[in-house]
Amino acid sequence: MTANIQAVLANYYSCPQYGDLTYQEQALILIDSQGVIQEIIASDAANYQSEIERLRQAGQLVELEEGQYLLPGFIDTHIHAPQWPQAGIALDRPLDEWLDQHTFPLEAKYADLDFARRVYQDLVDQLLARGTTTALYFATIHKESSLELVKICAEKGQRALVGKVVMDDPDGNPDYYRDESTEQALADTESFIQEVRALAPQVKQGVYPVVMPRFAPSCTDEALQGLGDLAQKYHCHVHTHCSEGQWEHDFTHERFGKSDTEALRDFGLFGPKSVMAHSNFISDQDATIYRETETAVAHCPISNVYFANSVIPIRHLKDLGVQIGLGSDISGGFSPSLYDNIRQAVMSSRQLEEGVDRDLPFESRGVADSRISVIQALHLATAGGGEALDLPIGQIAPGYAADFQVIDTQGLPAFGVFEEPEQILQRILYLANKENIHQVYVQGQLVHQK
Ligand code: GUN
Ligand code: FE
Repeated sequence: MTANIQAVLANYYSCPQYGDLTYQEQALILIDSQGVIQEIIASDAANYQSEIERLRQAGQLVELEEGQYLLPGFIDTHIHAPQWPQAGIALDRPLDEWLDQHTFPLEAKYADLDFARRVYQDLVDQLLARGTTTALYFATIHKESSLELVKICAEKGQRALVGKVVMDDPDGNPDYYRDESTEQALADTESFIQEVRALAPQVKQGVYPVVMPRFAPSCTDEALQGLGDLAQKYHCHVHTHCSEGQWEHDFTHERFGKSDTEALRDFGLFGPKSVMAHSNFISDQDATIYRETETAVAHCPISNVYFANSVIPIRHLKDLGVQIGLGSDISGGFSPSLYDNIRQAVMSSRQLEEGVDRDLPFESRGVADSRISVIQALHLATAGGGEALDLPIGQIAPGYAADFQVIDTQGLPAFGVFEEPEQILQRILYLANKENIHQVYVQGQLVHQK
């Protein structure tokens, strides 16, 4: 790992609040020895020139080139690391068949540590190269290979939140891929939490254990309650799927006599460090529970096209005060890029607003006021993710981790028109790809160089 950067001179964008955009030209960003942004000195400040000179002479200033822009690192709030080899596979099948015939046999292979290592090393490299500086990972039921994922992220410099997955119900899971017993699942979760916590002090950017039932249909009541108790005991992050598709939503209602949201809340699984993937079918009453408990939604717009049976009303949920981050949901979503997910989040919201069935009258075809802008989608991928995870990340502002992507606009259309700062950002968000991401920093450390 390289030394910490101490200062960057850059044009930067940040979306601190949903709907807001900050842009500063040639700002001097100072970073402390912990990799946290200490101060941002604007070009009209009295000490601006003298600080630049001092840092230049000390060889401590990273200066972006003409046509380069600094963006906050992206935060993937829902990704299944073991499903990377399955990206793009069998997406024409329904979710239950996709899981039973492809995903579970694949995830069972992670009993083999060598296989796990090969996949996880490649995935973390691929994510860093696409600007994802923090990820909330589903691993598998295997404690050892889940720990391996934590170690690989620690080594490669990515901030990681990882869970050993719990699937203990013999009625909800195949024999070949299931926790041995409820007791074993809880014991493995508890020792996983302790082992990750023991590693964490040596990892500058942070690694965090996560309590992780796969989803209610794969867990017994005893496991869900036991996991809720562990989350309270250790004040850990919690992550699971909630009301993803029509089947899951209806199944949990039938089983518990209440919504998926209410059931998970009652098991002690909701709270400020909890993130629920998808949440496509939550009611306004459920949304109030999210808001009041400060539980976040991980919005996975690409995956939702295949498995959600609906389009989630993101704008409505933001209006109700729900915290929302963005997730790739590899491999329900095929793309490891949050750029692709930003684009799909916008496009899906537009289709929700306009409607899709041309045989319905124009006036009643869609759901009015549903669209979100590409800048709002950028907020979900950055500051929204930071809020969801309850960590000081996702913004370029004092007190936040120095997690950056350096975007080079070379190769994007440049004809001297549409050069307003917001237009340049729109162009980046819609058209940039891996080739445009020149450097990536996490907690002030260089983790990817094109
Ligand atoms: N629900 C339970 N497990 C999964 C999974 O692996 N992917 C998706 N998209 N939904 C799930
Ligand atoms: Fe998922």
